[in-house]
Amino acid sequence: MQIMKYMFQQHGDDRGQLVALEAFKDIPFEIKRVYYMYDTGEGVRRGFHAHKKLSQILICIHGSCKILLDNGAEKKIIPLEKPYEGVYVSNDMWREMYDFSQDAVLMVLASEYYDESDYIRDYDEFLKYVEKEEK
Ligand code: TYD
Repeated sequence: MQIMKYMFQQHGDDRGQLVALEAFKDIPFEIKRVYYMYDTGEGVRRGFHAHKKLSQILICIHGSCKILLDNGAEKKIIPLEKPYEGVYVSNDMWREMYDFSQDAVLMVLASEYYDESDYIRDYDEFLKYVEKEEK
């Protein structure tokens, strides 16, 4: 199971740091939506779904958290701890986000508009979906 981790270019000088993300250059898709999670309660675990179409890049722009990615056969845990690192999450990955630090801001860049019908929220349905995809 290959994980695509991105280390974005930092434009740093004596004033501080800046990261700029452009569609099809730094991000491998057109960004149609941005959302972010913050004030996540201690011990909270969220996500628990995959998608039919949506691709995403997750960046913890402040604080830290962990991402569990599961392709149906294998699981990997990706810690996100720097505002210049991101992880690519393809549609067909079951994802869970957890271990949020109190100050964590997890930003998501998404290739599609919000569409509840694109979600696979049932784990057994997800396993059937990835099995079918392989054929
Ligand atoms: P939810 O899907 O529960 O988040 P998670 O990915 O952690 O499971 O989303 C929480 C709420 O926010 C839910 O009511 C749907 C809403 N929402 C939007 O309106 N637009 C969005 O782009 C997202 C991701 C969620």
